[in-house]
Amino acid sequence: MAGRFLRLGVNIDHVATIRNARGGGHPDPVRAALAAAAAGADGITAHLREDRRHIGEEDIERLIGLVNLPLNLEMAATPEMLDIALRHRPHAACIVPEKREERTTEGGLDVKSGREALTDYVAALSAGGIRVSLFIEPDPAVLDIAKAVGAPVVELHTGSYCDAAPGPERDAALARLVRAAGHADDIGLECHAGHGLGFDTVAPVAAIATVAELNIGHFLIGEAIFGGLESAIRRMRSLMDNARAAAAGERSA
Ligand code: PXP
Repeated sequence: MAGRFLRLGVNIDHVATIRNARGGGHPDPVRAALAAAAAGADGITAHLREDRRHIGEEDIERLIGLVNLPLNLEMAATPEMLDIALRHRPHAACIVPEKREERTTEGGLDVKSGREALTDYVAALSAGGIRVSLFIEPDPAVLDIAKAVGAPVVELHTGSYCDAAPGPERDAALARLVRAAGHADDIGLECHAGHGLGFDTVAPVAAIATVAELNIGHFLIGEAIFGGLESAIRRMRSLMDNARAAAAGERSA
């Protein structure tokens, strides 16, 4: 596991949030995705919400057509989103819970009560050649269900870790992520992580050897206001790479 490459997926939703505040085409999420590619991102992530508050379907089409990076489409497990995903065939789809009234994705997917429907949903996306991940809480029992419903990938929700006060509370949240990422590897799931990560919180998550990808959006777009998007992504990339290399060095010492 040591030294396994850690990918960075840049979520460009909030470029569209700013665009939509005024209508028109500026700032263009595709331009942000091209800047992300130039700055060393390995993928682009976008959440097509039922209420289209940021990205729209035409953005998905343009991101796939104009940007030479894999697209990870975050979506709720609804019939409408299944049709859209199968129409556009992004590289990957991350199934997330979605509530209209929430400001952002507040927690992981309830895989337990939706188990049967989720199994069919994952199968339909997979049959369309789309790599499916489930956005879940870092709980080994939930990972076991994710495996049972046939998803090859899980994305661990890092919100509780990022929101926790530095010290014992955050350490405990990190320990839950470490344990869950280890369990994912044990049962043959690729493990991603994301939500709320910033410069101050990314390193300990990047150091987890069994995490293959981080998806980061809000902080990078916010930081871009002050120093530019490419510079923010380059700094995030280097914090991730340094943390991963340091952890690998510690393990081999
Ligand atoms: N991963 C998933 C599944 C998400 O839903 C989000 C938020 O859209 C992110 C990662 C990125 O979170 P943030 O914008 O807080 O970095």
